[in-house]
Amino acid sequence: MNRNDIINDPDNGNKAEAYEAFDDIPTNPNLSNTIGDVINARYGRRDVLRGVLGVSASTALFGTSALMAPTPAQASTASRYVFDELEWGNDETHHVAEGYNADILLRWGDPITADAPEFDVMAQTSAAQLKQFGYNNDYVGFTALTEDGTRGLLCVNHEYTNEEVMFPGLGRQDRAGFADMTKELTDIEMAAHGGTVVEIAQDDSGKWALVRDSKYNRRITPLDTPMTISGPAAGHDRMKTNADPDGMTVIGTVNNCAGGMTPWGTYLMAEENFHGYFWTDKLDAEGKPDISEHPEAAQLKRYGVPGRWYGWGQHHDRWNIDKEPNEPNRWGWIVEVDPRNPDAAPIKHTAMGRFRHEGAEATTSKDGHLVVYSGDDNRFDYQYKYVSKGVVNAETSVFGSPLMSDGTLYAARFDADGTVEWLPLVHGKGPLTSENGFASQADVMIDTRIAADLLGATPMDRPEDAQPRGDGTAYIMLTNNTRRKAGDENVANPRADNAFGHIIEIKEDNADHAATRGTWSILVKCGDPAVTDVGAQWNPETSENGWFGSPDNCAIDVDGRLWVSTDQGRSWGKTGKSDGLYAVETEGEARGTSKLFFRCPVGGEMCGPYFHDSGETLFLAVQHPGTDGTKDLKGFERDSTFEDPATRWPDFDPAMPPRPSVVVVTKKGGGKIAV
Ligand code: FEO
Ligand code: CA
Ligand code: CA
Repeated sequence: MNRNDIINDPDNGNKAEAYEAFDDIPTNPNLSNTIGDVINARYGRRDVLRGVLGVSASTALFGTSALMAPTPAQASTASRYVFDELEWGNDETHHVAEGYNADILLRWGDPITADAPEFDVMAQTSAAQLKQFGYNNDYVGFTALTEDGTRGLLCVNHEYTNEEVMFPGLGRQDRAGFADMTKELTDIEMAAHGGTVVEIAQDDSGKWALVRDSKYNRRITPLDTPMTISGPAAGHDRMKTNADPDGMTVIGTVNNCAGGMTPWGTYLMAEENFHGYFWTDKLDAEGKPDISEHPEAAQLKRYGVPGRWYGWGQHHDRWNIDKEPNEPNRWGWIVEVDPRNPDAAPIKHTAMGRFRHEGAEATTSKDGHLVVYSGDDNRFDYQYKYVSKGVVNAETSVFGSPLMSDGTLYAARFDADGTVEWLPLVHGKGPLTSENGFASQADVMIDTRIAADLLGATPMDRPEDAQPRGDGTAYIMLTNNTRRKAGDENVANPRADNAFGHIIEIKEDNADHAATRGTWSILVKCGDPAVTDVGAQWNPETSENGWFGSPDNCAIDVDGRLWVSTDQGRSWGKTGKSDGLYAVETEGEARGTSKLFFRCPVGGEMCGPYFHDSGETLFLAVQHPGTDGTKDLKGFERDSTFEDPATRWPDFDPAMPPRPSVVVVTKKGGGKIAV
């Protein structure tokens, strides 16, 4: 596949879309399938509307008999989510179910410290951005500062930046070879990445607001936030660079997608598509990075480094692998932040492996071990979990806990008999020996993907967020994988050309998250159940509003119920639906039903979700509003730019482009959500 063709393909309306299309090229060598064309909209709603596909509700696949409601009467009484479902659609703004408020809490550029300048979109500077809310908010977490939880710290990841809607007059830089990316524009991008910790407080009327002068408020960025490195890879030769000859410190974190909160209230930021930030000046005839002379060419290839999706390497040596060949080994980890101590340098924990970590949702096992579930979001990559050696207690419940640096990482193998085996990535065990290139546990962690290849983990359809529940259950979001060919299906990824994804439920043995074995089942296969060829599987009680495609982030609410948010990217036209938040029933007769609760403005991805312990506040995040797939918005039908975006959500000010924002949902008049 020619990289330049992808970048210049008019179907890829912004850099992020091209990035995703390029990432369709799997790096896992354990596959027989060949690489074909870029995604086609084979199951596009537009095709459906044109009658290309046979649509017949009577022939729709409603899944296994286990999911079928025996009688409508039984099914109608079983759903635990109490709210009137929102109607599906796609337009310029957000929508929430009737009876709820959905208020904007924080927008890109909002000043978050007392001394921060007001946002001036036409005169952005990196110095200002370092004190303002970052771009593309993804994970949202919260830790209370008071007993009643009405004051607390909101922790937000800023995954990436979209230069074409962020900066006036700039346009797509991937198509321009990043020629217009000056040092200052680059530094603004870097300052807009990373994370934010801010204090927020709820007033007597139930409204939440930023406490702007709070001592806790800070930005964490790849421009200026030093971090320490812990665990097996800390100080290893492969972690050393010119700027850090000890291999113990690194400046910042990048592409922080989903994340998690630890049982002791620290904030975990997952480093996902770090490969895209690395640069080389060496290109082959097709414009692809040429890594043939790099000492770790095989490892770089498995990780897709350098992606060259940002021009940072033109101005900062550490992003240029020609100058700093070891730098990529210092990214792709889980970062822990102490939100209660703004002076504490965050820690990159290397015991949880190095891959494109989607998230890091933590729980405790029956015996008190810390368990962190994390997916590797690439087509045909793996689901992982980490189990600490020690247990959670007063001594270990601290920032930088030994529980985070001493433990076992496992990769999942899903078997046809319905069991899941967790395969330990431990140096010296099985094939993970020096004969196979692993001289120590540091090598196993730095080359996690290659170790998991050797162990025979199951190649998945892009593992996004994974959410454990206290009862030994975990939900795994498999977002989609149109690269899976007929013949390459496996039991846990049963659809070739899986355009809409599915959700797997794991029940760990003895309801214990530390178990090395469990059982699994498919909760839902996503997509339109009325289109036979899609092969969707929902409880038939699911309405036309309730089904969705491309599950991504997820959360469990205070009543143990599952909520799933979607990221269809430029493919939303395949469903015609905006991304949104769905209530997905996992129990009883209604298992496999889904109801739409909130939907995003066009081009936006639904992130968060995070429930306050009271169950009365739901934090959501809308990232990249007005960008993805705007060619499919009726009446707009073109790519968004700063000057001409598909929406100016949430301000709708003609002088302001769309702004990624955190949204707070509460019930009108108070009370628990969906109860
Ligand atoms: Fe950043 Fe896997 O979504
Ligand atoms: Ca995600
Ligand atoms: Ca989650």
